[in-house]
Amino acid sequence: MAKATPTNIEFELNERDFLVSKTDTKGIITYCNEAFMKAASAPEKELLGKPHNVVRHPEMPKAIFKLFWEKIQNGDEIFAYVKNLRFDGGFYWVYANVTASFDKRNSIVGYYSVRRKVNPKALDIIKPIYERMISIERSSSMTESRKYLDDLLKEEGVSYEEFSNNLQRL
Ligand SMILES: Cc1cc2nc3c(=O)[nH]c(=O)nc-3n(C[C@H](O)[C@H](O)[C@H](O)COP(=O)(O)O)c2cc1C
Repeated sequence: MAKATPTNIEFELNERDFLVSKTDTKGIITYCNEAFMKAASAPEKELLGKPHNVVRHPEMPKAIFKLFWEKIQNGDEIFAYVKNLRFDGGFYWVYANVTASFDKRNSIVGYYSVRRKVNPKALDIIKPIYERMISIERSSSMTESRKYLDDLLKEEGVSYEEFSNNLQRL
């Protein structure tokens, strides 16, 4: 199915909502819960077996997903602010935690993500950073956009994880 044209209509998550999805090692969706389907405005059959970028929003920097995959493929967990595209064209922001699932031999067999409502104060900081990163990606490259993020973290003297978690607690 072709992706919907993005609109400015926001779907606001409830404090109690936990949007869960599981994927295989390539990011193909193998499970999602009711809250996830409701936020995505999509039925299960449009989600299961599909790559997770079915909810990718064009206003998400590529460098964030690169960082995301580097971490999870390494077996590390990641916390990230993500703007997602609904199937009806609307959008929703989430604070996502993604972890790898391992088998007995410690090999990665898939990934698991739980998302919750974003602290609105965090978004005041994240939005301009993402806008800048996207503009760098358009005019220059993903490497430069990642450098912008890394320099910003260096200036703040925090890791990416500390930065994300601190914002959620503002
Ligand atoms: C467990 C898991 C959850 C993911 N959740 C999302 C998500 O909610 N939104 C999103 O855009 N990408 C999500 N991704 C990342 C996508 O697989 C993909 O890398 C991203 O949408 C960028 O797509 P693109 O490479 O087509 O630009 C998730 C990946 C995994 C493994």
